[in-house]
Amino acid sequence: MTGLFITLEGPEGAGKSTNREYLAERLRAEGIEVLLTREPGGTPLAERIREVLLTPGDEQMNPDTELLLVFAARAQHLAEVIRPALARGAVVICDRFTDSTYAYQGGGRGLSLERIATLETFVQGDLRPDLTLVFDLPVEVGMARATARGRLDRFELETRVFFEAVRGAFLKRAEADPARYHLLDAAQPLTQVQQSIDALVPKLVERVRG
Ligand SMILES: Nc1ncnc2c1ncn2[C@@H]1O[C@H](COP(=O)(O)OP(=O)(O)O)[C@@H](O)[C@H]1O
Ligand SMILES: [Mg+2]
Repeated sequence: MTGLFITLEGPEGAGKSTNREYLAERLRAEGIEVLLTREPGGTPLAERIREVLLTPGDEQMNPDTELLLVFAARAQHLAEVIRPALARGAVVICDRFTDSTYAYQGGGRGLSLERIATLETFVQGDLRPDLTLVFDLPVEVGMARATARGRLDRFELETRVFFEAVRGAFLKRAEADPARYHLLDAAQPLTQVQQSIDALVPKLVERVRG
């Protein structure tokens, strides 16, 4: 058994955190072991790196520093949590993963996609998510939801131009590989988003049971 690796992607306020538990419960109800986790973070050490990444500070973070910290946290998370869970046959649901690196550090910060791909292979080997749900919504809707949620982190303080680039990068990746990506209209009411998630469950159960 090799488990199933599902990632949830999309900009701030898209509903990833709201819906990850929903998807996990649907699968658990089928008797499937689900490990729910998030990035950056997912282990105590990786969560410390998350704090560094998200906390606004006086010193400007160099984009390469940011990129390397994201992958440093990911290496820890993969070694300690994700790979062991997949090896025992669990479904891993991860709130953000490397698509966010392509979208934020690539699309948003303008770092070279080739360099990101090099680090992706360095840290992950050939491990890629089996399924990636992309929660897509207009930038202003996401920003309004994130603002209503409370104090903004270092990324949420970015500009509209940055978030348009992030959104564009997610969409481009989803379009390039329809076998892996499933695009969800996250601007819909929550009940409709969850109906779209429900529709995916039977196929996921089938894949896990092989
Ligand atoms: N489909 C939806 N319609 C309206 N509000 C939503 C919807 N999905 C999530 N929200 C709300 O938007 C805010 C951000 O959702 P959250 O799940 O934290 O997004 P993310 O984790 O993608 O940043 C939360 O207050 C949540 O309750
Ligand atoms: Mg979230």
